[in-house]
Amino acid sequence: MLLVTGGCGFIGSNFILDWFAQSDEPIINVDRLTYAGNPLSLASLADDPRHHFERVDICDQVSLERLFATHRPRAVVHFAAESHVDRSIHGPLEFVRTNVLGTATLLDVARRYWQSLPAEQAHAFRFLHVSTDEVFGTLAPEDARFDESSRYEPNSPYSASKAGSDHLVRAWFHTYGLPVVTTNCSNNYGPRQFPEKLIPLMIVNALEGRPLPVYGDGMQVRDWLYVGDHCSAIRRVLEAGVPGELYLVGGDAERPNIEVVRTICALLSKLRPGRDYSALITHVADRPGHDRRYAIDASKMKRELGWSATESFESGMERTVRWYLDNAEWIASVRSGEYQRWIETNYASRS
Ligand code: NAD
Ligand code: DAU
Repeated sequence: MLLVTGGCGFIGSNFILDWFAQSDEPIINVDRLTYAGNPLSLASLADDPRHHFERVDICDQVSLERLFATHRPRAVVHFAAESHVDRSIHGPLEFVRTNVLGTATLLDVARRYWQSLPAEQAHAFRFLHVSTDEVFGTLAPEDARFDESSRYEPNSPYSASKAGSDHLVRAWFHTYGLPVVTTNCSNNYGPRQFPEKLIPLMIVNALEGRPLPVYGDGMQVRDWLYVGDHCSAIRRVLEAGVPGELYLVGGDAERPNIEVVRTICALLSKLRPGRDYSALITHVADRPGHDRRYAIDASKMKRELGWSATESFESGMERTVRWYLDNAEWIASVRSGEYQRWIETNYASRS
């Protein structure tokens, strides 16, 4: 079986649902259920014997040891992290705890388990670490896209903590030989993303007639990757990735934020007419240290593993907006008091 961390979050839940659409291999899902973890995302697996859920913190070494000993996974897919840049600006230490200390704890438990395996199983074992393009810092408009040789230059507490986790993964490979692979991907979007991130926040605000807060001039560029494409990339790296290697995963869809927000407004006007959504667009104070552009050259994934993204930005965005329109119950379930407090913390003081 696979041991997946952070399987109740956005990408983790999509990965688990995708996995079971094509495989009967069981998954043990290890998630602390922070504000970002939503069991409702996996409600369709409630009676599915292939899915085992454990509410465990990845900093909890003793519980992790128990899970490895009991379930004896053939691979780890590590999604669990604090993932939101704005939250890392307001409270960086939780990011260091989970992303750095949590990854180190998980790596070391996995290492000792892996060293105890018979040779054939040890040879086949994989630790797949899911990371981000943000570890490479920011690009100017004319710069070449990030690739596997890009320098690490993280700029936010979030990206610095993810860079720390990448370095630990690398060290566990070089020092102990643990068969690790790391993926660094661009901005994901799609169903089940927590509405603190740009796309779901804009959809949810627009539906309620609230302002659409665009940071600064809105000309910051991100490379948008549909989450289903990211899941297929992870499956492929798990299957054929070479231990010790990095794989960059992108959607080949660079867009400035303001264009993304206008696309959402246009889709809502088509699918839920009756309001001028674009009139809600409001420019607010910028994010401190805001990276201007991310872009991924995913040619290694294509060349070595035969993977490339298949969803276009236009079709992926329409699927995403439709999902939020059809899933009001899911949206309501994540907008607790904690969510309201976060919106107040992040947006009230922006001019
Ligand atoms: P998310 O915030 O939606 O979900 C994170 C999950 O991890 C949640 O279920 C949460 O409960 C769990 N978690 C947090 N701390 C934990 C801990 N200490 N122990 C156990 N579980 C814990 O994140 P996401 O957007 O799904 O991102 C998943 C991974 O992909 C992260 O590592 C992130 O850095 C990386 N990534 C995300 C994106 C993106 O656009 N969302 C892009 C590149 C890389
Ligand atoms: O690049 C990969 C990264 O993408 C992941 O590693 C992170 O986990 C993920 O959160 C994401 O980081 P970003 O900071 O790029 O995503 P976010 O959705 O927060 O913001 C996208 C862009 O939109 C960014 O330039 C900031 C801007 N923005 C965001 C919010 C929440 C706004 O203009 N207004 C907003 O209210």
